[in-house]
Amino acid sequence: MGRFAQALNEQVAYEFAASQQYIAIAVYYDDQTLPQLAAHFYRQAVEERNHAMMMVQYLLDADSDVEIPAVAAPQSSFSDVVAPVQLALDQEKRVTEQISELVKTARDEGDLVGEQFLYWFLQEQREEVSSMSALLDVVTRSRDNVLLVEEYLARESGGENPLEAGAPPAAGGAL
Ligand SMILES: [Fe+2]
Ligand SMILES: [Fe+2]
Repeated sequence: MGRFAQALNEQVAYEFAASQQYIAIAVYYDDQTLPQLAAHFYRQAVEERNHAMMMVQYLLDADSDVEIPAVAAPQSSFSDVVAPVQLALDQEKRVTEQISELVKTARDEGDLVGEQFLYWFLQEQREEVSSMSALLDVVTRSRDNVLLVEEYLARESGGENPLEAGAPPAAGGAL
C-alpha cells in the first residue's frame, strides 16, 4: 500500500473514533435530559461516520486496500457540561492537523487526485472548528443555566450546511 493510501486508512479510524466520541457525548447529555445538546452530538456522530465512509469510497475508487479498523473506546464520563464541548473542540483541531498532514503526504507523492479529494475536508474542518468554538463560548457563558444553551441550539440548528451539497460520495450512501 502506498504511503497516502496507508495514511488515509489511518484517518478512517480517526473519523470512526470521532463518531464514537460524539455518541458518548450525546449519551452523556441525553442522560442529563438536555435534548438539544444530545441531538446536536448524535448528528455530529453521523457526520463523522459519513466522513469515514467518504474516505472508504475514495480508497475503493482508487483501487487501494481498505481496512475497516477497530476503534479505541471514547471518554464517556465528564466533570461538568462544559467538558464534552471542550473535548470536541480539541478533537476537531486535532483532525484539522491530521487532514493537513494528509494533504502534505498526497502532495509529496504527486497524488493530485488525492490532494483534491481532501480539499472538501479542509473546508469542513474550518466550519467544524468554528461552530464548535462558538458552542464552547455559549456553554461556558451559560454553565450555570444550561437551558440557555438548549435555547441557543434550538434557534441555531436546522440550518442547512452548504458544504453538504459538494460532499464527496460515501460508500453505501451518506446517512
Ligand atoms: Fe470528520
Ligand atoms: Fe468533525
